[in-house]
Amino acid sequence: MQLLTELARFEIPDVLRFDAGPSGLVRARVSAADAAAVLYFNGAHLAEYQPVGEDDVLFTSGKSAYEVGKPIRGGVPIIFPWFGPRKDHPEHPMHGFARTKVWTLREAGQDPDGTVVLIFTLHDDEQTRALWPHSFELRYTVRIGQVLQLSLEVKNTSDAPFSFEEALHTYFFVDSVQDVTVTGLDGAEYYDKTDGLKRKTETDPVKIAAETDRLYVNTKSACVLDDPGFERQIVVEKAGSDSTVVWNPWIAKAAAMPDFGDEEWPSMLCIETVNAADNTLSLDPGATHRMDVTIRVERK
Ligand code: BG6
Repeated sequence: MQLLTELARFEIPDVLRFDAGPSGLVRARVSAADAAAVLYFNGAHLAEYQPVGEDDVLFTSGKSAYEVGKPIRGGVPIIFPWFGPRKDHPEHPMHGFARTKVWTLREAGQDPDGTVVLIFTLHDDEQTRALWPHSFELRYTVRIGQVLQLSLEVKNTSDAPFSFEEALHTYFFVDSVQDVTVTGLDGAEYYDKTDGLKRKTETDPVKIAAETDRLYVNTKSACVLDDPGFERQIVVEKAGSDSTVVWNPWIAKAAAMPDFGDEEWPSMLCIETVNAADNTLSLDPGATHRMDVTIRVERK
């Protein structure tokens, strides 16, 4: 784990600094001309992102745990190497281990336009190999500016092929989830996790009027989250991703989650950039796969 004293060399005066957050968790704090952000090394977890002049783009729960080994509720959890409960291994951690490991900062800098760039890596270790017996390198590039760009590269550093699932599990902050719409998924097929994983076909626009947990497969499309209350649209563009998940826990599931406030469900909607289920990926030894998401706020 990198200590604050070791991270000092990455600091950019007035723009990038490091401090200890709740429970002493180390985090990076960005305050640039175009945007502010907070990112925890636990999970390389972007918890806050706010372009100048905007409300928060990401939702983070007031009840979130902040503890090494536990996921942060909200922001952008990184999901790898399986999505949801692991097939045939319900005892393994939900959504894999990448979101609860401490990542290493490799590079920090600023583009000429002021965008702050942070690059984190995560490698296999004894603990990950005990769950998933493969060698890998994850490289996560976060570009914080007027636009947010996230890029996750997975490299197979073992001598045999492996399969994996992955997600950038973005939680968006919305004024009132019942009033938002999501477009970009018209005609896409999805597994409805609230209805016995039945396979269904979507019709645009998606509206949220009950617990919603849909894993769309074979879709490369961008999504637009229209939020009339906040008078903005959030445009989610992606590359290297064939699945999208839309999730809101609604009332009962929110009440059952210990790290989520009972009254918080109207304030969030997850639109996740994913490769899972039918879109599980395979990588040969030495090969790399990259998945990108670009998030842009447009005023209405
Ligand atoms: C979503 C899944 O991606 O994540 C849901 O589709 C799940 O089924 C949700 O409930 C949250 O998962 P977790 O492990 O963070 O509670």
